Amino acid sequence: MTQLKHLDNSPPTPGKFKMDKSPYIHRLRWHGSLAKLTFWSFIFLGLILIFFFRSPSSNSLPSDPSRRSLRTYNWGGPAWEKRVRSSARVRSRHGMSVLVTGAAGFVGTHVSAALKRRGDGVLGLDCFNDYYDPSLKRARQALLERSGVFIVEGDINDSALLSKLFEVVAFTHVMHLAAQAGVRYAMENPGSYVHSNIAGLVNLLEVCKNANPQPAIVWASSSSVYGLNTKVPFSERDRTDQPASLYAATKKAGEEIAHTYNHIYGLSLTGLRFFTVYGPWGRPDMAYFFFTRDILKGKTIPIFEAANHGTVARDFTYIDDIVKGCLASLDTAEKSTGSGGKKKGPAQLRVFNLGNTSPVPVSDLVTILERLLKVKAKRNIMKLPRNGDVPFTHANISSAQRELGYKPTTDLQTGLKKFVRWYVSYYSGGKKASG
Ligand SMILES: NC(=O)c1ccc[n+]([C@@H]2O[C@H](COP(=O)([O-])OP(=O)(O)OC[C@H]3O[C@@H](n4cnc5c(N)ncnc54)[C@H](O)[C@@H]3O)[C@@H](O)[C@H]2O)c1
Repeated sequence: MTQLKHLDNSPPTPGKFKMDKSPYIHRLRWHGSLAKLTFWSFIFLGLILIFFFRSPSSNSLPSDPSRRSLRTYNWGGPAWEKRVRSSARVRSRHGMSVLVTGAAGFVGTHVSAALKRRGDGVLGLDCFNDYYDPSLKRARQALLERSGVFIVEGDINDSALLSKLFEVVAFTHVMHLAAQAGVRYAMENPGSYVHSNIAGLVNLLEVCKNANPQPAIVWASSSSVYGLNTKVPFSERDRTDQPASLYAATKKAGEEIAHTYNHIYGLSLTGLRFFTVYGPWGRPDMAYFFFTRDILKGKTIPIFEAANHGTVARDFTYIDDIVKGCLASLDTAEKSTGSGGKKKGPAQLRVFNLGNTSPVPVSDLVTILERLLKVKAKRNIMKLPRNGDVPFTHANISSAQRELGYKPTTDLQTGLKKFVRWYVSYYSGGKKASG
């Protein structure tokens, strides 16, 4: 606003609007400027047409029906490529160049920032969908921008865009975090899970398999693949054939798809099963986040209990611990073995639980929040609805401990304190927590 005002007040260019008293000269000038105006209008129109037809995103507009749901994003051109290159440039001696999908998301933002801090090259990719308040994604984008990470706006289903990115940068690693998260949204938009968690994953793996050199891929699966298992703690070797939500089913299918690309094309793949990640810049659709919002608003919060008054508990894992697990997975990932779409030998295939190993009842989470917020919550105890939530999660992390040196160090009390501090400062800046 202030900037516009400033422009409006700017003094006219000297002599630009000077009146000429002779009608003849006036006419000549008038004709002259009309010709100039027409000339420049043609040039301008020409430039717009050239830009439109040369833009790769418009070239790649879908005639193929499977791509019709893609929004058109603006990408391409020398200035854009320069930004892509500069963001992905490695600045440390043994650094890697990582494409982080879902970089404007909760985990993606933290992982991107951590990689950049230690000198790796990082390029983000995100479609900024409105599953939850996109202004939070924009704020995370601004944060990353300040540390030198560029987030390309686009969809993982856009093969032309992904191929272009690999043409511009020879990424050594892909950290794949873009997905449709959350279990309850499946009632509203089941297609979004197929679009991002299945079709998008296949598209990304296709492009990775064709890249030369092929990158190593680390990607986020979920603890939800353990579904309704009752054997605790959940170990990577346990069954994963009882999903309780469409989200879990697509994550499980994703693991099978990853396995297939590893087996056929020699892609190095590491799947990470995250357990309820929380922390600053978190996701507004998660209980710890909307409990905080609703307790502060004085709204009643639903607390679920399992059958026979059983406790609902989660293995809450602090974001910094998850980030360490992601970085360790990237650091220990072996090279893919394929080239030109062909496998040359067996490639690494791993799956790790990244949890905290100490499940906490959801009612205890609320008690901690009450203490930190200094507000008593209005609790409404309800039966756990059958819409995808499972009664409890508990990770066995011995594999990650052994192979990644993963060791979570933040307990729920400490982590929530950091979350609440962030929440209060973020939303006291005039921003509204929607919902
Ligand atoms: N946060 C958790 O507790 C948790 C637990 C288990 C698994 N995970 C998984 O970890 C990953 C990251 O989760 P998060 O909590 O950061 O979620 P998030 O929703 O904050 O981040 C995901 C990002 O991906 C983007 N995205 C979605 N579909 C896309 C597409 N088709 N193309 C491009 N971008 C797309 C979204 O805009 C979003 O910014 C996801 O795969 C999620 O399923 C998270």
